[in-house]
Amino acid sequence: MDMQAPSAALLSLSCIAVRDETPTVKTFRLRAGSGPVGFTPGQALVLKVPLPGGPVWRSFTISGGTGGDLELTIKAQAPGGATRWLHENLREGSGIEARPPRGAFTLGLRENDRLAFVSGGSGATPMMAMLRHLAQTDPEADLAWFHAARDPAEVLFARELAELQARMPNLTVAISVSRVAPGWFGYRGRVSRARLATAIPDLGRRQVFCCGPQGFMQEVRLIHAAEGGARMQFHTESFGGVAPAGAPMTEAAPEGPGFGLTVNGRAIAIRADETLLQASLRQGVIIPCGCGEGMCGTCMVQLVSGRVDSRPNGGLTPEEAAEGYVLACSTRAASDVEIRLA
Ligand code: FES
Repeated sequence: MDMQAPSAALLSLSCIAVRDETPTVKTFRLRAGSGPVGFTPGQALVLKVPLPGGPVWRSFTISGGTGGDLELTIKAQAPGGATRWLHENLREGSGIEARPPRGAFTLGLRENDRLAFVSGGSGATPMMAMLRHLAQTDPEADLAWFHAARDPAEVLFARELAELQARMPNLTVAISVSRVAPGWFGYRGRVSRARLATAIPDLGRRQVFCCGPQGFMQEVRLIHAAEGGARMQFHTESFGGVAPAGAPMTEAAPEGPGFGLTVNGRAIAIRADETLLQASLRQGVIIPCGCGEGMCGTCMVQLVSGRVDSRPNGGLTPEEAAEGYVLACSTRAASDVEIRLA
C-alpha cells in the first residue's frame, strides 16, 4: 500500500512579520508564494507544523489580512506542542505549509441586525477578523462583544478595539478577567449569566457568534437560551485539537451492523452510527481533530475505497472533495472503507 501523505493542494507560505500581542500571544503575517490568498472573515487555516516527532496539522482562525496576506494570532500553549513550536521557530523569512482557508463560521450566517460576539481567550481571533470586516463594510453595525480573558495582560487587540469603537458608534465592548490586577476597571470573573446579561442586556434577541473552549461555549449557549435566544441564532467555533464531544476514548464492543475500516493499513471496525473519527479514536487510532463539526478541516483524510456518507460543514474545499478527501468527524461508512491519514 502507498503510505505517502495525501497531496491536497497546499499553500507554501512565507512568514513576513511577527509581532507580540501579549506576553504569550504573537501574530504571524504570512504570504503565499502562489499569490494573494482570499478568505472570508471567521475562516481558519490548517497549518502543517513540522514538529521533531513528525508533522502535525493544526487549525488556526485567521485573525486578519490585507493585500492577500493572512494573519494568524496564536497563543503559546504547552512545551512540545504545535503552538510552542510556532512561537519558537516561525520567524520572518521562514516558511510553512497550510491547507487553503476554510470554515463556515462567518458573517455569511448573519440574518439579524443585532449581533453579539462572545469569546474566551484565543477565541477572540475570528471575532477580530469579522469586526475588522464590519468596520469597513458596515460601520453602523449594532454589535455587542463580550470577551473573557485570564488576566489584563492577556486581553487581545485592546488598542485596536478602542480605535474601532471610535469609528463604530454602535459597537460596545465588555471585557472580563478572572485574575484582576491593579488598574483594571472592567468586569471581574468567569463568564456567568449575571455577568453576560449585565454586559449585553438584550443577549437573547441577538444573533450570537461564540468562540472559545468547549466548556465556555456550552455555558454561553445555555445562557443565550435562558435569556430567550433561539437555537438557530447561536453559532460556535471551537479550537484546540480536542476529541469531539461524545467520542468515546476506550474500546467498546461494536453494536449492531457495522463495516470494516482500514486506517493507514490497520484494520479496525466501524458501526453504522458513528463517524470515522469516533470509530478510530475508540480503537486507539488517533486522527487529529479540532472542531468536531466538519468546519475546520483538521481531520481531513483521503478516502482510498468504499462508500461513505460525508457531510462537511465548510471544512472541505470543493477541490479537496473532488480529489477524494473527506472529514473524519462528519463522515460515516456506508460500506467497508479504507482511508489514509494526511
Ligand atoms: S475536526 Fe474540524 S472538520 Fe473535523
